[in-house]
Amino acid sequence: MPRFMIFGGLFVVLPVLIGCQPTSAVALTLYTDRHYEADQSLFDTFQAETGIQVNVLKMDADALITRLENEGLSTPADLIFLTDVGRLGRAKQKNLFQSFDARILPNTIPSQYMDVDYHWVGLTKRARVLVYNPLHIQTTELSTYEALATSDFSIATRSSSHVYNQSLVASLAMLNGEMQTRLWLEGLVERFAIRDSLTQSRQPVGNDRDQAKAVYEGIADVAIMNSYYLGRMLVSSDPLEVDVAQALSVYFPNQTTSGTHVNLSGIGLSRYSSKVNFGQQFIEFMVSPEAQRLFADENYEYPIRHDVSAHPILQTWGSFVEQQIDFSSLSEYSQDAFTWMIEAGWN
Ligand code: FE2
Repeated sequence: MPRFMIFGGLFVVLPVLIGCQPTSAVALTLYTDRHYEADQSLFDTFQAETGIQVNVLKMDADALITRLENEGLSTPADLIFLTDVGRLGRAKQKNLFQSFDARILPNTIPSQYMDVDYHWVGLTKRARVLVYNPLHIQTTELSTYEALATSDFSIATRSSSHVYNQSLVASLAMLNGEMQTRLWLEGLVERFAIRDSLTQSRQPVGNDRDQAKAVYEGIADVAIMNSYYLGRMLVSSDPLEVDVAQALSVYFPNQTTSGTHVNLSGIGLSRYSSKVNFGQQFIEFMVSPEAQRLFADENYEYPIRHDVSAHPILQTWGSFVEQQIDFSSLSEYSQDAFTWMIEAGWN
């Protein structure tokens, strides 16, 4: 039989097989580094609405990217859902995505929140804000990320090894260039407040919530941290976290200059997924108003759609001007940013 006949036969048979398959038998495998209950609620809702099962594999982002590289063609992953736009860019550089059909995206998502080749689309946003105690600091004393490095404030923020800070520094490197960024880093590190318990050196310790606690306890004046943590702390089961979040205020820096740094969590189709239509159906669900509402209400993240409002708590912080950078290029600056942070003594 000529080869084209074999291919012709396959093309006839395959759609019939897929067509015969009950939707309930379909399962998607999603790799993610996110760890929120809100996400699982969404996966469950999608499954209930479509009959398509979502198998979730959670792991650290670096492990996730390495695993996808190692698995190659044999990966079971259909979808990749990552925090941080730098990581999304890194996954794209490593050729881990395939393009999805842009027509699945509503026109209520601004184009800067999606990859130019549709390898990923943002699903949520978080702002890297300044958190302060209004009993000690007036808002007129705060202005920009850059100004912190020449201020009289002591600063609390987490380690340079965390991607949230790497992306913040990478974004400022894009805007201000290497020399200014290095100078800024030196000034910032000199103002770090938290002392390492072993070495007594001024080194960041803990996660974003710990930075807020340091401000609450008067160890630091200003914390650089992600907006959604403060929202989550307000409804925490830990009474201390509620006290901390109620006592502190949020300041959006750079409002009259380059805007407040915003980072995305985003999703894309795994390069070797054969379930493209089902994967796209999942992405379409995740950008739906229903899913976007849940990200906002349960996880205090900013929705990616401009027609879905933020959680009322976030709305009380006010609207803000976002930093305008090319998210698709941020990952190109991340490695340099991390090197400069280490060289400035930000461990
Ligand atoms: Fe986080």
